[in-house]
Amino acid sequence: MPERTRVAIIGAGPAGLLLSHLLDQRGIASVVLDSRTLEEIETTIRAGILEQGTVEILHETKASDRVLTVGQRHEGIELRFDGEGHRIDFADTVGRAVWLYPQHEVLKDLVAARLAAGQDLRFGVRAERVEDADSIRPRVIAKDSDGNTLQIQADVVVGADGSRSVVREAVSGTSGGHFREYPFAWFGILCEAPPSAQELIYSNSPNGFALISQRSPEVQRMYFQCDPETDTEAYTEGQLWEILQSRVPGTTLKEGPIFQRDVLRFRSFVAHEMRRGRVVLVGDAAHTVPPTGAKGMNLAVADVVLLTDALHALLLDNDETLFDAFPDTARRRIWKAQHFSWWMTNMLHLQPEANGFDRMRQIGELRSVVESTAGRAYLSEAYTGWPLRC
Ligand code: PHB
Repeated sequence: MPERTRVAIIGAGPAGLLLSHLLDQRGIASVVLDSRTLEEIETTIRAGILEQGTVEILHETKASDRVLTVGQRHEGIELRFDGEGHRIDFADTVGRAVWLYPQHEVLKDLVAARLAAGQDLRFGVRAERVEDADSIRPRVIAKDSDGNTLQIQADVVVGADGSRSVVREAVSGTSGGHFREYPFAWFGILCEAPPSAQELIYSNSPNGFALISQRSPEVQRMYFQCDPETDTEAYTEGQLWEILQSRVPGTTLKEGPIFQRDVLRFRSFVAHEMRRGRVVLVGDAAHTVPPTGAKGMNLAVADVVLLTDALHALLLDNDETLFDAFPDTARRRIWKAQHFSWWMTNMLHLQPEANGFDRMRQIGELRSVVESTAGRAYLSEAYTGWPLRC
């Protein structure tokens, strides 16, 4: 006999956990499954920038207090190119801000909030497939860590299971999605050192892009553009500092021991289908963005806010309108974020085939942004995030 729940959520990342949290506040029960262990989930290193709307949702719904006490409010970023830095002032242009608060901290807060609320949250349980997507009782077939098969029947199944989504198969079959790969990646490091700058620096240099970000007063996060095939052990610490330093002329980086290295591939993807019957995709299962605009998790949060309203109407008021409209409504923001991430990426990175014309055009584009009130305002508006329900 299958177990029963109202909403079966596959994936205990930020999207799945936040959805269970928001549904609980509407009185809607859910079960959350994830194939990973809690430790694996909490230690996955991801981006660190939260849009203002994301912070407001986390705070107002009591999913996280620490986002405001531990997270750092940033009212601007710097774009550096052609030997000069240009501050984009979010407060001045759009009266908004972002928060530097790493995604794994958001996850810890969400897990703590869900466990405290008695959420049915199962780690080490791998969803294998979803059956009966077109019926009003879709079913998840999963395996626990002892190899036992379980079946969960729900009113709605949500795939919040990341870019290698299993649920996507039930939603879109082989229909795939819109896809773009980029000819570069980011080499990311975490190091023990004081901050080299008060705000993030996005630097377009003749040697390629670099981003100087932070984590805390003691730990810093930095990235530089590299070939996608680069091995994380390809460089000594000294070489890594030399590369980073050469890409932010004008700033002397504060160096310290590097204790984590990773290579992040750049992909833009939007699934052709986000819903089939009572099975729906959110977050990275439905779309991925390159990390340049820090939109990944923020977009997942926006999907979840829309889906919560849609599930409330469907399951409590028997009104299917918002649920039917969910993919089209979500796609409006998804494509704006896709464009912003693509635009920031192309404006800031050195294309392998770039010639002198391409380089100078890029500098012209950057100047058009930083020397225009409208340009700075567009960047600020997109970076700090559009209203959540739009
Ligand atoms: C990060 O701190 O990890 C980070 C910040 C901004 C980005 C991407 C990543 O655009």
